[in-house]
Amino acid sequence: MLILGIETSCDETAAAVVEDGRRILSDTVASQVALHARYGGVVPEVASRQHLLQIVPVVQGALSEAEVAMDDLDAVAVTYGPGLAGALMVGVNAGKAIAFARGLPFVGVHHLEGHTYAAWLEFDDPAADPGFPLIVLIASGAHTDLILMRGHGDYELLGRTRDDASGEAFDKAARLLGLGFPGGPAVQRAAEGAAAPFRLPRAWLKGSLDFSFSGLKTALLRKAQEMGVHPAPEGGADGEAVAELAAAFQESVVDVISAKAAEAVRLHGARGLVLGGGVSANGPLRQACRERAPVPVLIPAPRLCTDNGAMIAAAGYHRRVRGAAHGLDLDVAPSLALA
Ligand code: KG4
Ligand code: ZN
Repeated sequence: MLILGIETSCDETAAAVVEDGRRILSDTVASQVALHARYGGVVPEVASRQHLLQIVPVVQGALSEAEVAMDDLDAVAVTYGPGLAGALMVGVNAGKAIAFARGLPFVGVHHLEGHTYAAWLEFDDPAADPGFPLIVLIASGAHTDLILMRGHGDYELLGRTRDDASGEAFDKAARLLGLGFPGGPAVQRAAEGAAAPFRLPRAWLKGSLDFSFSGLKTALLRKAQEMGVHPAPEGGADGEAVAELAAAFQESVVDVISAKAAEAVRLHGARGLVLGGGVSANGPLRQACRERAPVPVLIPAPRLCTDNGAMIAAAGYHRRVRGAAHGLDLDVAPSLALA
């Protein structure tokens, strides 16, 4: 089954052709990172306009790279929420137009379901598939969720962030330390090889699988002020101090997320742990989850952790094999819940 997946929920215009939910024939991503970098975050209006400019060449690029014509497709899958309304609209309408013109089934996909199914992409050893139930950890720019997945399409939300998402925390930490946008990769790079001689706090929220990162952000700010890193002094901040702060911050986020993911696995007798979302590209987080979870850990390749069309096509495949399709009256759902 050949599925065209389209993703425009935030700042990547992305399209891909995926066969049977696993094999990537093409995966085209037009990133807007450089455009939003000067604002230190994603500007919704700028994102929508850029999606409009990019959507046709990106979809055409994905089809031609896959050497697939529209008539070869079996369905079109598109992210319809959650995300920025104006951004989602561009992908959803492009998908509807293709589905209508070619008489193809149209499948709306939840963005986080897409991040979940990234773990199945290029996973070509069914014997190593741990089976259900699984715990899914989605750590992205907008979410930090722990989900119990009992089967394909069957989700229960176990925990979520009560304030900032982990990716948002990385982005804010990077801004504070003068490391640029997006913050996650910048903080990881700055922290490489550094060991902090101090600890930043962890919000354990005992007895709950929820997260909280806003206290950590405030603690980082205080420590950065104390160490003379923020506000940045003339001539720039001391590189070693920045590295120590980045390392201490990352250590705190990684410690809490990996501990809670492992705890969720134990509590629910899960057979595996799946990671998804931009923050799961983080090296130390990947390593900590592998060390702490008492079960196999499935993590997409780093480039498939951030937003892409292939994950939407993969999630669309698993909906389609269950016979799901949406009408062309499907609207965008900026606050769509997964479960
Ligand atoms: O999933 P994603 O591409 O978009 C959303 O759906 O939000 O996630 C983007 C987030 C950003 O906050 C970015 O800083 C973070 O993922 N991120 C990382 C890393 N790479 C991207 N965070 C930590 N370490 C990384 N290596
Ligand atoms: Zn995402």
